[in-house]
Amino acid sequence: MIRYLSILLLGMSAAAALAQPADPDERARATESRMTDAERIQLLHGIMALPIPGMPPVPDGVKFSAGYIAGIPRLGVPDLRETDAGLGVANPLGMRAGDVATAMPSGQALAAAFDPELAFQGGETIGREARAKGFNVLLGGGVNLARDYRNGRNFEYLGEDPLLAGTLAGEEIRGTQSTHVISTIKHFALNGQETSRHTGDARIEEAALRESDLLAFELAIARGQPGSVMCAYNHVNGPAACGNHHLLTDVLKQDWFYRGWVMSDWGAVGGTDFITAGLDQQSGEQIDGKPWFGALLADELKAGHVPRERVSDAVRRILRSVYAIGADQPAAAETLDYEADAKVAQRVAEEGAVLLKNDGILPIAPSVKSILVVGGHADRGVLSGGGSSQVIPVGGPALMTPVGGPGPFGMFMRQVYLPSSPLAALKAALPGVKVEFDSGYAPSAAAATAKHYDLVVLFATQWQSEGVDGDGLALPEGQDALISAVVQANPRTVVVLETGNPVGMPWLGKVGGVLEAWYPGQKGGEAIADLLTGKVNPSGRLPQSFPATEGQAPRPVLPGLGESDEKPVAIPYDEGAAVGYRWFAAQKQKPLFPFGHGLSYTSFTHGALAIDPAGKARVSVTNKGARAGADTLQLYLVDAAGQKTQRLVAFRRVTLEPGETRDIELSAEPKLLADWGSQGWMRKTGRYGFALGDTAAQLGPVVTVELGADQPK
Ligand code: GLC
Repeated sequence: MIRYLSILLLGMSAAAALAQPADPDERARATESRMTDAERIQLLHGIMALPIPGMPPVPDGVKFSAGYIAGIPRLGVPDLRETDAGLGVANPLGMRAGDVATAMPSGQALAAAFDPELAFQGGETIGREARAKGFNVLLGGGVNLARDYRNGRNFEYLGEDPLLAGTLAGEEIRGTQSTHVISTIKHFALNGQETSRHTGDARIEEAALRESDLLAFELAIARGQPGSVMCAYNHVNGPAACGNHHLLTDVLKQDWFYRGWVMSDWGAVGGTDFITAGLDQQSGEQIDGKPWFGALLADELKAGHVPRERVSDAVRRILRSVYAIGADQPAAAETLDYEADAKVAQRVAEEGAVLLKNDGILPIAPSVKSILVVGGHADRGVLSGGGSSQVIPVGGPALMTPVGGPGPFGMFMRQVYLPSSPLAALKAALPGVKVEFDSGYAPSAAAATAKHYDLVVLFATQWQSEGVDGDGLALPEGQDALISAVVQANPRTVVVLETGNPVGMPWLGKVGGVLEAWYPGQKGGEAIADLLTGKVNPSGRLPQSFPATEGQAPRPVLPGLGESDEKPVAIPYDEGAAVGYRWFAAQKQKPLFPFGHGLSYTSFTHGALAIDPAGKARVSVTNKGARAGADTLQLYLVDAAGQKTQRLVAFRRVTLEPGETRDIELSAEPKLLADWGSQGWMRKTGRYGFALGDTAAQLGPVVTVELGADQPK
């Protein structure tokens, strides 16, 4: 009899497991209802899985990484094994000995490509590597607008425009989650500078917030459905972002019907009451110093101070994301093909590099028989950005220089060069040419040497990092002087920039060409060589305006500069939604290089823009040159029912063979034709004016169309 019963019970549990509801929300409800309170709390707080002196040890068998939350085996709930981040699978401080990953180019490079399909591929590449390494949550998807050209983390993000950033972040997230790895979108919201990052209070009025930073999140979340949102360190209009009821509950969970969960940033929780504001999970609790969502939440729950339903809802949100994305599905053992993944990185670098200036010096002519490569450690590799997003590249760092800095974050401040040497790549690409190197360490020597070469390719770098903001427009470490000395000696000089933010160029009038390569990733050297030699035609467009002077910025001095990290600092975003090119337009200022700028080795013409009564745009584009290339069509709204404005409402990257013409249709994002008001998004009836832009500052003829009222959801 016993035997029969045990077979019956076994059959029933198997049947129960098989009978799991298919719908992730129903399945989450079913699982959560079977949990004990202790199990519920267990899911709502996690550790930074790193061996921190004086802190509890990392549990046995848990890989060193950004985050870890233990699962509930009896209910089939997996551990949440979290890794950074948006530019590849990070290996914090190299703690996972020998573990490397494909280092993707910076977010700015990806954004400059204006290529949603490539963004998907980049996200998929990182997701696949994360899964193969045993992670099921990627803390990627940084989408904060580049409000301030000095923000140390702009290299992790996707530029200044909400449509571009939101579209690409959404595709990156979709790509990552297609590999059953939960992606995160961060840092919600208005994480616009590193100075006073914990105490800065971003102040902005509601409509401006909705029409700028929040719009990037809204578009990305709608497109990518990220399993999780990471709230930011800073405050927003008073409350800390992670304890901000308006942001987390009113906007994210109610207005946007977001069904995933909100995790805190690491060390961003100020109390258990953050859960009633809408935070669902405390991350990296060692940094907060208190288990706000651990034992302390258990006590509050028991005492009835926290609504039971809020705790259950938080748990269900985590579970539904796990189920919807399949993060509970065991990963098949996979041997990663790093060479194939590096090709994706190289494609991002090649499509995202922006040719800022070219007097004809590029592509390198066959008549060039000698090249001096100067500076930027170009003999070793290419620069990458610092902080939690730092990837230990395949092949290991070519160069790693500690920078240091205050507090526990100081140990993460290291300049890492990736093992992809532009010098080696140029030599390989130009076998018949004498290609030599000068470090640039002694400008006079470099200048004297430069005289003897047909061409100089001078690399200038600007290291940017989480934890610290840029220091203005001047290139660091005397590089402006180096460039001026070299170009004085040899005007046939091309400057290649490896920067994490816009820089000034006092030498611009003297050099023959400037290529912005950003942080070009795992195969950055090869990508730069292919672009300079013309094997690849540059096609990137600036996703971020380059100011002509520091005084052009909305805030010439960074709020909080020099203050202690504990001091509350107001950050007045008085420019509102006028971020980047919108600011320059509103101020009638001319940047050094505008949003959307980028040259090619061929040329394109556009036919007349036509807009139909439904607001659909049509235009033909022709490649007038002798070689294939990619143009990026930019459609701007310039008049909204009589209200002058400038908003990118649609864009399309188009690759054309020489002489090829293609008719392109562009559909404006409805929310960009509307304004935010008390009734939500509202488009007024009236005449709307549109123009194609070669850049945000060079607009074609305005075409108007009568549009009716609309309330885009
Ligand atoms: C960091 C960053 C966040 C990162 C997290 C885990 O401080 O702000 O982007 O994902 O902590 O490393």
